[in-house]
Order: sequence, then C-alpha cells, then structure tokens
Amino acid sequence: MKILVVGSGGREHALIWKLRRDHPDYEFLVTGRSGGLDDVARCVESSPTDIDGLVETAQRERVGFTVVGPELPLAAGLVDAFREAGLAVFGPTRAGARLESSKAYAKRLMQTHGIPTARFEVFTAKGPATAFADELGVPCVVKASGLAAGKGALVCTTTAEVADALAACFDRRDFGAAGDEVVVEEFVAGEEASMIALTDGRDLLPLLPSQDHKRAADGDQGPNTGGMGAYAPATMLDASQQAEIVETVFRPILAALEADGVAFSGCLYAGLMLTATGPQVLEWNVRFGDPEAQALLPLIDTDLLALLMAATPGGRLGEQEIGWREGACVTVVAASVGYPSDHETGVPIDIPPELEADNAFDRDGVVVFHAGTRRDAGGLITAGGRVLNVTAVGADVGAARERVYGALARIESPALRWRSDIGWRELARALAE
Ligand code: AMP
Ligand code: GLY
Repeated sequence: MKILVVGSGGREHALIWKLRRDHPDYEFLVTGRSGGLDDVARCVESSPTDIDGLVETAQRERVGFTVVGPELPLAAGLVDAFREAGLAVFGPTRAGARLESSKAYAKRLMQTHGIPTARFEVFTAKGPATAFADELGVPCVVKASGLAAGKGALVCTTTAEVADALAACFDRRDFGAAGDEVVVEEFVAGEEASMIALTDGRDLLPLLPSQDHKRAADGDQGPNTGGMGAYAPATMLDASQQAEIVETVFRPILAALEADGVAFSGCLYAGLMLTATGPQVLEWNVRFGDPEAQALLPLIDTDLLALLMAATPGGRLGEQEIGWREGACVTVVAASVGYPSDHETGVPIDIPPELEADNAFDRDGVVVFHAGTRRDAGGLITAGGRVLNVTAVGADVGAARERVYGALARIESPALRWRSDIGWRELARALAE
C-alpha cells in the first residue's frame, strides 16, 4: 500500500518513521523534503495547501491512506476534498479544523457547553478590547484568533504590553487576517500539559499526557516558539485525572461540535493549564502536536496505521487498543542560532552515521528526526528555525534525557542551539517524591 504524509517537518518525519517500522513493505510519499525524509519517503513536490494538486497526486499514485500533519491543509479543506474524491484520509474537515483556526469559535463553543476555559471576550476593534483588558487587569492574554504558527498568543504583564499587543493585532497587523478577530482573556496560572486523543467522532482514545516547552531559553524564559522540546508521559496527571479530563473536556467538545453539525474525526489536542481549581483549556489543536508527536510516537508499541485508520468516520475506534512501551521519551529541538528571530540557514551540520542509522533506535534508543534540513552536494545543511529533534527513550525521563544530550554532544555545531533543561519539571517531580 502507498501512504501519503502531508507536511515535511519533524512531526511528519516521526509519523513516517513509526508507520514504516510497523509496515516496512509499504511505500511512503511525502509533500516536502528534508535530510531525514529523503531516506524514508518519496517526495511528491507539492505545497501542503495545494488541495487540487494533492487530490490529483493521490489518485494518480493510487494512495491507500493519507495522514495530514499540519493545521494549514486541514483548515484549507484538504480532508473535505479527499473524501469527496473517495480517498481515505486521517484528519478533520475544514469545519472541524475551525476549532484550531478560530480561537474565537473554540472559546465560544467551550463557553456555550460549559467546558472549563479562561474568561474572555472577542473583539474586532481596539477600543472595546482595551476597555475589557482594563477590566481584567494584568496579567492578561491577547490572542490573534486565526492561525499564527504558535506565535499569536501574547501574555501581557503591564498595561503598556497590553496596548502594544492590541496595536500589534489591530494597527500594525502583525498577524494579518489572523488578527482581524482578537480574543482577550484572563490569565490563568499553573503547569501546562498537552493531552491528545484520537477520535472517530464517537469514541475517544487518549494518548499519554505530554509536556511541551514553548519558551526559547532555559528556565522557561524568553519568547514563545513553536516548541523547544517535549517529553511523555507527563506524570502530573494520574490515570484518574486523565479519565476525568476525557469526561469534562474531550467528550463535551465532541458533543458540542456534533451539536454544531460537525462530525469530527482525527486528533483532538487540548492545551491545558492545570490550575489550583482544576484544568482549563487554553487552546484546541486538531492535529498531533509538534514536538509532542516526536515524544509520543516512539512510545507506541502497537500499529499506528491501524489506529489512524480507525480514527476516521465509521472507523470503529472503540475496538482499538493502544499499547505503550515502558518508560519515557524525550525530544529536544536543536534550533538555528537566533531562532525564533532572524537566523541563518544553509549552514553545514554533521550527524555521526551511528546516530542516523536506522537501527540506532533499537540499539541505543535514540532517533534523530529532521525538522528543517536539506542535503546538498556537500552534505547536510540547516534549512529552517527548528532543525533537528533529537529523541530518545529510556527507563524514565531522566534516562531518556541523558541519552538525548549525549547524542546532541556528538552533533555539536556552531549553527545549532538547544535548551539544556527539557523535562525539568518531571525531574523536579521525581526528586520531590
Ligand atoms: P495558545 O496559543 O492559546 O496555546 O497560547 C500559547 C501559550 O500562551 C500557552 O502555551 C500558554 O503558555 C500561554 N497562555 C495562553 N493562554 C493563557 C492564559 N489564559 N493564561 C496564561 N497563559 C496563557
Ligand atoms: N506543541 C504545540 C503545537 O503543536 O501547537
């Protein structure tokens, strides 16, 4: 069978890596290149949002199943077009993707259906937004409602920052049309967790909780990024708390979508803040997290393709079980120096062959996913802000993390930097016990 994966970053490399381990005999197609993808999949040079082109490619290639990684093609209606053409595909339709592509929609849906989320209002002009922010006081959060690659949420700690955030949305239009609508919301304090569940629209299959590290620098300092590293499982949520979140957050959102006429299937990803009074939903995503997927997929012991195929309309997900290997997984993002601001690309990097080999995972529990690299005549070069996701499994987060940083020491490059403290909250928890 041929499998098409839409996207070309670290998450998509991890998806193909896992699917291919389960099905070495299948052929994998992918919509972009990287130094890692070139070895494992054939690139069908196509933009992930060229929906018509992708339908045509999938038909011509007789693709049996398509997995969509990023949010943009989902919001652009890729799944709708594929299903219309009779092509099997994992992911929500455009209407389902609104849960991520419009924070205003997601917040209103949660409000209407009693799903815990911070107090908020939605604005299309600066004056009333400023008045509501004044009422909330600082800290508060200003969010561009549309898709902004993880950079559209501005946590403001002074009134000057509030004014600047609203000016960024309404006057400077830093987020373009994504800032036409702006959510202003109360700041909620606590520890963050990512919970992802697969769904066929009826049943839910939750994955292990994970934790991303969004800030650029150690100690959770510096600007928000697309994510600097993640680990799983995140043990601040025990099994009964996870089950409660499924009942109080996941089932109600699925029911809310259904009441809104949306049959949702694929990934439901809740970005949660665990507050003193219980979990609150910060945001919904409709896909695997990046880099959470890189920390979750290596822990899955069962056939991923069977799970993804079951998480489609009528897929009988309720009959599926998911097996997890013992221990934990840590992924650390090696980014270009300067990321998330201006950074160079095209800089040579050197990964020792023993780290790249297909069996490095079975031998050492280490796998290097490529997020933004290219191979040119001279070898591997950087091709993006987030470059590599160095990933390892181990008996616990501490052991996995030692392996990751040991591997990173061997690909030391002046072009790359990374956080040295991924998983620190989990280690602090283990120490406290
Ligand atoms: P979002 O894109 O909505 O997930 O926001 C990005 C990041 O901003 C989150 O991961 C949080 O760290 C922070 N954030 C968003 N909303 C809030 C909130 N209401 N209170 C505190 N922090 C928030
Ligand atoms: N890790 C955050 C995201 O995928 O949006």
